[in-house]
Amino acid sequence: MGESRSAAGTVPAVTLNDGHAIPQLGFGVFQIAPGDTAAATLEALEIGYRHIDTAEMYGNEKEVGQAVARSGCSRSDVFVTSKLNNGFHRPDDARRAFDRTLVDLAFDYVDLFLIHWPLPTLYDGDYVSTWKTLIEFQREGRARSIGVSNFQPHHLDRLREETEVVPAVNQIELHPYLTQERVRAYGATHQIATEAWSPIAQGLVLGDGTIAAVAAKVGRTPAQVVLRWHLQRGDIVFPKSVKPSRMRENFEIFDFTLDADDMAGITALNRDQRIGPDPDTFDYVPA
Ligand SMILES: NC(=O)c1ccc[n+]([C@@H]2O[C@H](COP(=O)([O-])OP(=O)(O)OC[C@H]3O[C@@H](n4cnc5c(N)ncnc54)[C@H](OP(=O)(O)O)[C@@H]3O)[C@@H](O)[C@H]2O)c1
Repeated sequence: MGESRSAAGTVPAVTLNDGHAIPQLGFGVFQIAPGDTAAATLEALEIGYRHIDTAEMYGNEKEVGQAVARSGCSRSDVFVTSKLNNGFHRPDDARRAFDRTLVDLAFDYVDLFLIHWPLPTLYDGDYVSTWKTLIEFQREGRARSIGVSNFQPHHLDRLREETEVVPAVNQIELHPYLTQERVRAYGATHQIATEAWSPIAQGLVLGDGTIAAVAAKVGRTPAQVVLRWHLQRGDIVFPKSVKPSRMRENFEIFDFTLDADDMAGITALNRDQRIGPDPDTFDYVPA
């Protein structure tokens, strides 16, 4: 994957397997109430974030679209990801859901659209038809890039074997207590960029002694150290915060580096500890 500079100037971009570039640092809006989302997203855009990660299930696509429209940024300068709701995997449902996503965002395209969860125990285990529907969206130009989220290597194998399009990204839970080496290696082999969700494990890793020691050594906060660790591994991150000071803190990670020992020490913290669900058994469908 190549590197280039994003519109924000300081944020590197990762080139995806379809040639599109994604800013390596973005802003996540999971668990931001719809009423707070436009203000938080506007603040993030003001700070310099040019990549927003939302989902139909977060219930705040409309407010993300409003923030982009009000920000003064041109649409092409902001990379926006959304995701298919778990209730809409059947192709006709997926088409209707994607139409609604574009209406709610008030966009004529999204930069990246993902299958949010594989749901292998639902829909007769058929996430392949769902993937083929996302391929249609990409051919129509309404999703510039398409990918998946929470897919394990055996789920990805089926997409590669049964369709002609390899996902551009796989967005997975990934942080120092869940380093996901097997899924990352699969992505590296097959040109699937890895996106790390809950990159600071929703705060869980910030009190870790090893991370605190590295933070003291480099004169940064634990969150900055963890986000920097992700960047140096080549993964894409989009930490969430509703606090402007933390949004800025999480953005200021391009003017220091971690040495090989610091990197290895943080990677060695892995405990294969999930804070979210197991993709092989997760079967939640919103009412
Ligand atoms: N595909 C999926 O299934 C999936 C699942 C989960 C998340 N995601 C995506 O990944 C994004 C990030 O994940 P996440 O929101 O679960 O977790 P996260 O970014 O790891 O952590 C967010 C939490 O940490 C706090 N925080 C943020 N910056 C901080 C800092 N510098 N110092 C101390 N605390 C800080 C935030 O609180 P405050 O807001 O109070 O600052 C919030 O409680 C989501 O917003 C979403 O876009 C995707």
